[in-house]
Amino acid sequence: MVICHCKAVTDRCVDHALREGARTLAQVCRNTGAGQDCGVCVLSVKREMQANTLSVGVSGSA
Ligand code: FES
Repeated sequence: MVICHCKAVTDRCVDHALREGARTLAQVCRNTGAGQDCGVCVLSVKREMQANTLSVGVSGSA
């Protein structure tokens, strides 16, 4: 599912960024490119981070 339409970032891209070590919203956005243009997707990125954190047990602040 596409989360960021400006940068064509999917939920899987966010999941990958988390697996690669991103722990904050800023890190995920920097690593994926999401939120770098219009910013409309930032809340969706945050929700995906929270969902992923719950499902894989990644700890840290969002
Ligand atoms: S939809 Fe992500 S920056 Fe515009």
